[in-house]
Formats: sequence, C-alpha cells, structure tokens
Amino acid sequence: MPRRACKTLATAAVMVTVLAVVIAMITVYQILINKYPSEVVPEPTVAPSELPLNMRLPRSLIPDRYRIYLQVHLNTKPSNITNQTFSFSGNSTVKFKCVEASKWIYIHCKDLNLTFMQVMDEKWSTIDVKNFTMENDERNFLEIELTDTLRVNATYYLVTAFNGPLVHSLAGLYIAQYRENQHSERYIATSHMQPTEARKVFPCFDEPAMKAVFEVTIIHRNDTIALSNTAEKDEVEIIIEDEAWLITEFFPTQNMSTYLLAFIVFDYEAKMTDYGRYVIKTWARPEAIAAGHADYAQRITGQILQFFEDIYDIKYPLPKLDQIAVSKLNGNGMENWGLIIYQEGSVLYQEGLSTTTKKETIAEIVAHELAHQWFGNLVTMKWWNDLWLNEAFATYYSYLGVDKVEPTWNYKDLIFINEIQFMLHMESMDIFFPIITEEDEVQSPTDINAQFNSITYSKGASLLKMLSNYLSESVFENGLKSYLKAYQYNNADYRDLWHHLQKAADINNRSIHVEEMMETWTKQIGYPLITIDTSTGDVSQRHFLLNHSAEENLTWHVPIRMMKAGSKEIKLDLLTVKGPVSKLMYKSRGEEWVLANVNCTGYYRVNYDLPNWKRLLQQLETNHQKIPVISRGQLIDDAFNLAHARYVNITLALDTTKFLQKETEYIPWHTAIKNLHYIRLMLEYFDAFGHMKAYLQKQVAPLYDHFEGFTIKSTVPDSLTAQYNQINAVNLACTYNVTKCQKMATDTFNEWKKDPSSKQIHPNLKSNIFCTAIAAGGEEEWDFAWEMFQNATNMIDKKKLRLALTCTKEPKLLRRYLELTLDPDKIRKDDCITTINNIARKAERMTLAWDFIKSNWEKITQIFGKDEDSIRDLIVGVSQRFCSEAELKEEDIQRPSVPIPVLVQLQQFLKDQGEDANPSVVLTLEYAIERTQTNIQWMEENKQIILDWFRIHSVAH
Ligand SMILES: *[C@@H]1O[C@H](CO)[C@@H](O)[C@H](O)[C@H]1NC(C)=O
Ligand SMILES: *[C@@H]1O[C@H](CO)[C@@H](O)[C@H](O)[C@H]1NC(C)=O
Ligand SMILES: *[C@@H]1O[C@H](CO)[C@@H](O)[C@H](O)[C@H]1NC(C)=O
Ligand SMILES: *[C@@H]1O[C@H](CO)[C@@H](O)[C@H](O)[C@H]1NC(C)=O
Ligand SMILES: [Zn+2]
Repeated sequence: MPRRACKTLATAAVMVTVLAVVIAMITVYQILINKYPSEVVPEPTVAPSELPLNMRLPRSLIPDRYRIYLQVHLNTKPSNITNQTFSFSGNSTVKFKCVEASKWIYIHCKDLNLTFMQVMDEKWSTIDVKNFTMENDERNFLEIELTDTLRVNATYYLVTAFNGPLVHSLAGLYIAQYRENQHSERYIATSHMQPTEARKVFPCFDEPAMKAVFEVTIIHRNDTIALSNTAEKDEVEIIIEDEAWLITEFFPTQNMSTYLLAFIVFDYEAKMTDYGRYVIKTWARPEAIAAGHADYAQRITGQILQFFEDIYDIKYPLPKLDQIAVSKLNGNGMENWGLIIYQEGSVLYQEGLSTTTKKETIAEIVAHELAHQWFGNLVTMKWWNDLWLNEAFATYYSYLGVDKVEPTWNYKDLIFINEIQFMLHMESMDIFFPIITEEDEVQSPTDINAQFNSITYSKGASLLKMLSNYLSESVFENGLKSYLKAYQYNNADYRDLWHHLQKAADINNRSIHVEEMMETWTKQIGYPLITIDTSTGDVSQRHFLLNHSAEENLTWHVPIRMMKAGSKEIKLDLLTVKGPVSKLMYKSRGEEWVLANVNCTGYYRVNYDLPNWKRLLQQLETNHQKIPVISRGQLIDDAFNLAHARYVNITLALDTTKFLQKETEYIPWHTAIKNLHYIRLMLEYFDAFGHMKAYLQKQVAPLYDHFEGFTIKSTVPDSLTAQYNQINAVNLACTYNVTKCQKMATDTFNEWKKDPSSKQIHPNLKSNIFCTAIAAGGEEEWDFAWEMFQNATNMIDKKKLRLALTCTKEPKLLRRYLELTLDPDKIRKDDCITTINNIARKAERMTLAWDFIKSNWEKITQIFGKDEDSIRDLIVGVSQRFCSEAELKEEDIQRPSVPIPVLVQLQQFLKDQGEDANPSVVLTLEYAIERTQTNIQWMEENKQIILDWFRIHSVAH
C-alpha cells in the first residue's frame, strides 16, 4: 500500500493551517494519532485475565491450501425490477497440517455468519466439533473445540460455509459505487484485505507467515466479469433460482499471504498489452477507458515491471497482471499479487487536463505497487513489526522505477525532498518510535494498522538510500538479489536482510558491518546532528531535536561523504563515536570550505564552525554551481532547522536564501519556499509583511524571467523539476506582485475570455493564472469565470475554476459566492465546504466567511443534516482551529464559537479530555502545548531580527 494515506494527513495538515505554530504541532499530533488510532476498541467479552497475553494464532496448525467458493449477490446495473441484496455467500475448505497436538482449532473470522462447519481427517472422516465460539474481541478468533485431539504430522480439513454483507466499508469484500456518464448508479464489488481483513471474507489463518495456495471460484451474475489474483481457468454458465450466473474458476495461486488476496466483480473495460510471458490489463469505467484515461498507467506498467525483473533478477511469476481503477479504496493503491487495485485518481491520467503533479503521482504509485510484487508479495515480512521490509523498499524503488520510464524527470533526486527532508523535519519535532519494533509489541489489528506510518515508509526509504550509497548501488543490489532468491514464496525478517547484504559486502572485501551500523538507525529513534569544526578537524554527533531538553544520549554509525573547495573528490568516512574526534579530512586549509553529507545521501543534519558557514555562503553567492544541487537545498534546510534549534542565528539561515537570485534549480527553491513559509506565516500574523514581500519579489524576479519564454506561451519545459520550478516562479512572482507575472496572467486570461475554445493554457499554469487574473480583475472577470465554471464539462478544470473564484478581493463578490455555495444546483454539496474554507483561508477574509456561516447556520445544518463530518470540516477550516477528529464535540457543532488562539484551544482540548482520556493523546497534547510555547517564545526572540534582516535585504544592491 502506498503511504499516501498517512503522508497526506501530514501534508494536508501543513497546508490547511494558517498559524506557523500549528504546523509543527498538527503534523506530530497526526503521526502519533496514526500510531494510536483513537477509535474505540471493541470491549472483549471475556474477562481480560482469561485472554492469552498473545493475540497471535498458536503455531500448532499450519495451513497448506484453501479451496474457496464465493457467490457475490450484486447487480452492477440495478434497475427498478431487480432486487439488490448486497451480500455474499460462500464456502471454504482449508487443508492444514498439525505440528503440535491439540484439541483446538484457532482460525481468524470476523463479521461472518457461519452456516456450516465440519472438520475432517485425511481419509475424509469427520471429527466431531464439541463446541465453537467466535470471541468478540480484537483477536477475531473462531475457536473450535473438537472431541478428539489432532495428531502431530497429520493433515486435516476444515470446511465452513458462511455469508456476509457487502457494504461500503473499504475492508474485506465491499461495494464501491460510481456513476456512469455522470448519471446512472453503478456498483462493483471489490476487496481490500491488508492488513487483517481477509478474515471478513472467509475464515482463514490471517497472518502473513501463514502462506498457502488458494484455489478460488467466484459465482457472479452473467453480465459481470470476475477477477482474482490468478488467470481464469474455466467459466461455466448456470441458472440459479431463474437467474443466469457465471461460475468463474481461477488457477491456483502461488504460495502467498492472505492479505494479498483480491476479488472483484464488475463490468469495467480494459486496455490490454500482451508481453508474451504475461498480459497486462488496466481496467476502468468504460467511459474512462474510451477517453484514454488508463493509457498512461498501462504504458508505463510493462516497462517498470521489466525493469524490476532485470534489477532483481527474478521474473514476475504470473501469466497476467490486472490493474483496476476503483472509485473507493482505503489508500491510493494496493499491491494484491496479480490484481493491483488503485484509487481512480491515482491511476487515471487525462492528457491535456491533468497536471504534471498528477502524472508524477501516478508513476510513483504504479512503481510502488509493482516493486511490492517482489518486496512484499514474493518475499513477505514474517510479521507486521517488519512492515518496513515491504514499504521502505517499495518506496525506495518507486524512485528508480519512475526514473526508468521518465528519464527526463530527474526523479531520483526527489527522494531527497519527498522522503529524506520530510522525515528529517518530522523527526526533529518529536520523539517517535524506531523503525524496528519487537514482534510481540505489535499484536492487535490496531497495533498492526499503526505500523503504516511515515517512519515505516519515508524514514525506511531514507535509510535504504543511505545504505545503498554507503555499500555502493551494485553491492546493495547483489545483496537484495540474494535475499529475494533465498526467501521467495516465503517470509523473512530484518536479520535475514542484514545477513544477505553483509554477504554481498564481504564478497567485495569491504570491512563493513551492516547489522552493527544499521541497528543504530533502525532500532533507535531520531537522527544525529554532525558538528564539524573545520579549524581543528573535530567532528562529533548528538541527537538532534528542536527541543534540546528531550534529546537522548544516542550514538549512530554515520557514513559521511565530504568534499572540499576546489576538488571534485568525495571522501567517505564512518563516524561511530560521539566525539569530538579530530580527523584531518575535516580540517580546512586557508579559505577552503568543507561540505559534508554531499547531496544529502545520509539521514542527518550538519553544522559547521561559523567561518566555514561563511565560506559556504560566499561560494553560493559567487558561483553556486560549485556546490552540488541537492546540497544547495540541504544547506538551506539545515540552516533553518539549526536556527530553530538555536544552534545558529536566524540571520545565517536567511543568508542561505540570498543566492537564490541566481538559482534556477527546483530543489534549492523548494527548500527555501518551505522554510520561508514558516517565517511568512509568522510575519503575516504579526502584520509586518512588506519587507519580506519586497525581498521575495526581488529574489524571484530572475526566476520568473528564466521561465518566461515558456510561461507567456502557456507551455512548459521538459524536465519535471523544471516544470515544478516554473510553477514556483509563477506562483511566487504573481503572489509577490512581480508586474510582468501579473500582466502575463491577466493577458492570458483575457485572451481565453475572448476565445475560450481556442486558447490553450497548460494545466500546470491554470490555477495560478486564473487566481491572479480574478484577484486583479473585477466583476466582469469573476462573472466570466463563474460562467466557465458552470459550463465546464471536465471535473479537473471545474475544480480549478471553483477555487480560483475565491481569489477575488472584492467583498461584494465574495459574499455573492458564499451565497451561491449553499445552492446545491450551483455548487455540488460535496464542494461547498472546501469552497467556503478556501475563502476563509486568507486572514483578511476569515471574518467575512465566519459572519456568513453564523448568519446562515440554520440553512447549513439543513443542507448537511446528519453529516457531522462536513460540519466539522467547515468549522475546523473556517475557524482555523487546531483540527483533529476528536476535537469538536456536539456542543461545538451546535454553537460554534469564535476562533480562539491556538495555545488556549490546545489547553482547553487537553482539559476536555477528562478522566478516561487516552494516555497517548494526553501525552501528545502536552508535547504540543510545550512545543507551541517554545515556538511562540522563539518567535518573540527572533521577530525583530527577522524584520530587520528583510528590511536591509529588500533593497536592491
Ligand atoms: C422501470 O423503468 C423503466 C425504464 O426506466 C420504466 O419504463 C418502467 O415503467 C419502470 N417500471 C416500474 C415498475 O417502475
Ligand atoms: C423483489 O422483491 C419483491 C418484494 O420483496 C418481490 O415481490 C419481487 O418478486 C422481487 N423481484 C425479483 C426480480 O426478485
Ligand atoms: C461450495 O459451494 C459450491 C458452489 O455453491 C458447491 O458446488 C460446493 O459443493 C460447496 N462446497 C462445499 C464443501 O460445501
Ligand atoms: C445467517 O445465515 C442464515 C442462512 O443463510 C440466514 O438465515 C440468517 O438470516 C443469517 N443471519 C444473519 C445475522 O445474517
Ligand atoms: Zn506499499
């Protein structure tokens, strides 16, 4: 599963919030919430003392093979004469071996209605069931007590028949609804088993190491198609109760884990490519297939799959790969073996309408799921505590897979921003947990779900990047090949991985201790700050946190790549002690600068003595290209974070943005924008923004010019990072009043207004151009955009226009727009909240939006009725409050109060938790309050210094 589910949480929180102080807090809060989901855990029906401490299946029975029949009672095209029952029924026969004598069978089963049960031995003679219970606790055990004891080394069969509901649950076998041609209701049955939901479809030994072969038959209406992990073996038509059905039988699967099973019944269509050894099909709604929306995914899938076959040196073992775009999925993609399921938006690409970001997302998710066909499907972690063996690898290899199919994108470099920089930021704010937890610390489905967090995905991928760089890519790959071969169709844990990487390193005669080094990174929290004094050559490390008082006494084995001025040579060192230790290589002679962690392949930050910082800044300002591009971004990111942690002055950090006037690369700009955003929010809040605006205008003007040739023609450069930097250029230049940019936007908009059918604006630029032109324009521009919004036939442009309409500065138009949001004929009910929230996002309009909500409260509650989520989103968005699921209680929804400062809210929220509060939530809140206080204090200390800096630097030299 791609990590978006949790990563978006974090980034969404960052986008939504206005106050700088909140940013840090919410991200941390949500990642921790991820770890401790706040949902109510069903009360065990048995007294806790009777529960075994262990929630795992006993090791006494080992499954070998399942024979499964599923009948899916679903009409994909319901009409007024068909009755929809929305249920499934079936039976399963599991063959298992007994390895420890026992009178009990424990097997997972959840929310199923068992209608038949029989236990048999090898000779098919029945063993009587004395009793069975389905405990209503998190273990989801079906416990079957037999009259006889099962014998060691004997084989048995358990036959069950069952039925269950098909609901909109996103778990197990469920219904996803969609509209054909935007009107007729359509239904499909699809599945999502990861991590512990296969037990909702049939009774099974639902643990990843309980691999087995599955023989599946699906019985479905004869106007539908059924798919499963393997290819279709046979299809027969039958009549059941006067209705025509198809019995589709599939070939037996490989030896595989239950969480990778998948079943689908639908009437989609597919794009198909025959690669000889296998056939790849990408399925979607018929109209999406006809419009070519699946073409991009279909085109890259085969290429990426072949690339992975080459680098892992193991062929994809199935004769087919189906990929399905469904309307509803928990996450963006699920790697089910041979039947990958995607959220529609993560796989369908609309040429000429979708942005570059969308294309990147699709490529990334497809590559991620394809990498799982090896890391996860072929070799699976023994238990969920080692989930990173799936997810860190899939994340890491998505960069290489995309780079293969889109070589002009520079995509490999983006691991630095998306994973490394992202996690360095997260892990500097709070203490999380190590990547590797012990097996018995992950027990319940709640624990297991909590493993799907940014540490597993992003920190995992960052560490793999560091390791592959340290070992060299070829040694790393050789180690992985041998690991995959050794454990294929089987399970592994992290020790197995270290063992095979060590073997590969030994062959190369390098004295590297993989396990020793990697345990310091995977079994410890956080990361180090490396401090280098270039006058003495002293180097040392310490745990890096913004809040020093929470730092721990930790030591890592830190691979350091370093270079010096005037030399392209990169030296490699391994720092294994806390230090300081003196090493000649870090000593600079004369005016020579020293740069460590070259291109940030290591998961840490670096600080230098002030003279070395000055020399690096000097180099950036005179000839920035002497410093590699990722390092240019990393120097900015390190400097700002070191300033927040009070290791260096904020003026030093601000100085790292001076060279941007000459910079055209994306990574340094992106890093600077991200870090300045924090400062910008703070200055906006303190209402002293002018000098910063002037400074940024001066810095971005040359960047705008750099891309102007493309921009004025509404076209884009080839490279992905160049395209993203063009968006940065236009966005910043238009926001900070670069005249040319505003003129370009207004002109382009007016040309489009004159002749909407012929003027093509590149999808990447539309949002900025619309917003700038509407903000600069008046009623005429707004009315035109409104009309285009009403008439737009594609959802992508419609959304851009809807949001751009909020950019107007005229209160009259804003008020009119707010009124329109409550008219479901004009703005879809689903879009109402985001529209209002977008209006409220800018500080100066918040009151306007808030007044509107207060005076229309009755109408709003009428429209949304019982839809508390929407009301909550609205209040949270508009009041820009500390947002979390649990925050708003019933009273708040009835009587929204005016926004109150964040700190007070946090304190109130903590108070409201009361006696039964979840201890981890309380802990998180205490952290958040403490950090908010620290941030406010930091702002107070630095505000004047920052204002002065911008005042001095906003004037041209
Ligand atoms: C069912 O729908 C069809 C076509 O929409 C319509 O002609 C027919 O009258 C409807 N039948 C009933 C019983 O409502
Ligand atoms: C649908 O259900 C109604 C009422 O339960 C029943 O009278 C009718 O025969 C059913 N129709 C079909 C096609 O099964
Ligand atoms: C399971 O269901 C299928 C289809 O209804 C049936 O043919 C088969 O006999 C059933 N198997 C068992 C063991 O009940
Ligand atoms: C369980 O299945 C039986 C037999 O199909 C059915 O009669 C009964 O209503 C089902 N119970 C529930 C709770 O679905
Ligand atoms: Zn994944």
